Amino acid sequence: MTVNAIKIGDPKLWTASSPVVKFGTTELTQLIEKMRDTMTTFNGVGLAAPQIGYNDRVIIFGFDENPRYPNEKPVPFTVLINPSFEPISEEKNSGWEGCLSIPGLRGKVDRYTEIKYFGYDLTGKQIKGTASRFHARVIQHECDHLDGILFLQRLIDLKQLYHEDVDKNIIQL
Ligand code: NI
Repeated sequence: MTVNAIKIGDPKLWTASSPVVKFGTTELTQLIEKMRDTMTTFNGVGLAAPQIGYNDRVIIFGFDENPRYPNEKPVPFTVLINPSFEPISEEKNSGWEGCLSIPGLRGKVDRYTEIKYFGYDLTGKQIKGTASRFHARVIQHECDHLDGILFLQRLIDLKQLYHEDVDKNIIQL
């Protein structure tokens, strides 16, 4: 299967996506397969449908070990359709994020530390869960994509942005 990840500048990434209304369809199954292939190909920890050009409210996330985030604990693979979340407390933490739509860049972003999340699976069954730290960060990042928001818009400081090619020893962060 060919994977086609769109990049920053494509208007679809700035567009709010529409809720899924029909579950269990071939189209939805294929969309999720394409998303999973793309996430795997680019070593992502999460992906939102707009990132492959579909403005539908679908996100996926999960990984065992990830070379892009080697210090993070595994997160079970999850499909969330029409996702939402709410913070469990007002506490936030700051951490580094990257995005397959913005290749090479990492920036520091504040996110809620603990959240409850909600959504539906492919068949329309309701899913509820809780997530903390990096797991919660990924869900918040992917939900942002569905509202047409990229992590660059949430940077604490533009100077806390770097390219992965830059020697880590000379970066002043
Ligand atoms: Ni992203």
